[in-house]
Amino acid sequence: MNPVRWTVRPEDPRGTDRAAVRRIVEAAFPTTAEADLVDALREDPGAWLPGLSWVVSDTQDPDAGPVGHALVTRCRVGGEPVAALAPCSVLPDLQGRGAGTAVIEAVLAAARDAGERLVLVLGHAGYYPRFGFRPASGLGIRAPFEVPDEAMMALVLDGPVPSGLIAYPPAFGV
Ligand SMILES: CC(C)(COP(=O)(O)OP(=O)(O)OC[C@H]1O[C@@H](n2cnc3c(N)ncnc32)[C@H](O)[C@@H]1OP(=O)(O)O)[C@@H](O)C(=O)NCCC(=O)NCCS
Repeated sequence: MNPVRWTVRPEDPRGTDRAAVRRIVEAAFPTTAEADLVDALREDPGAWLPGLSWVVSDTQDPDAGPVGHALVTRCRVGGEPVAALAPCSVLPDLQGRGAGTAVIEAVLAAARDAGERLVLVLGHAGYYPRFGFRPASGLGIRAPFEVPDEAMMALVLDGPVPSGLIAYPPAFGV
């Protein structure tokens, strides 16, 4: 894979990337639920973390604009503020070529730089361990709903980290 194939950057805080992000998320998932989730999180100042919504574009086709997106927002574990990675989206035609890896690595690095200590993700156990995620249960962290143990994962950026029950912002509807 060409290491300079992908260009990553934070979403423009002036809002100029919003429509592109919505298109990407709508295209990546079967329903608009995840795109609606992103929009609802944007409207929640208790959840949205400025600088932790990142986009990726094709370095060789910059005029095409963003083709992928990864979002980190605020949630809580045991009442303490931590972060959650969700959703991650790449346009279907461009999936499997490293864009997702590039934008996820970028948003996680930005979360670390912003002082976040712990990032949670609910996702495929075959994908997220490559970023360092491990089952959250090993840290004594529990989801507020039934979920396979290996699907709820946590990445420690800077320990020690809290344990206990996860509380998501209202936008997640859980
Ligand atoms: C998940 C997603 C963001 C990854 O982006 P991507 O650009 O396709 O991923 P990359 O090219 O960087 O990485 C490809 C690897 O991811 C794996 N992968 C991609 N989607 C996967 C999934 N849903 N489950 C398991 N593995 C997946 C591929 O098998 C491949 O593995 P390999 O490197 O061992 O061959 C993208 O595929 C996507 O938008 N999928 C649909 C939406 C979704 O399911 N999002 C995740 C839940 S929030």
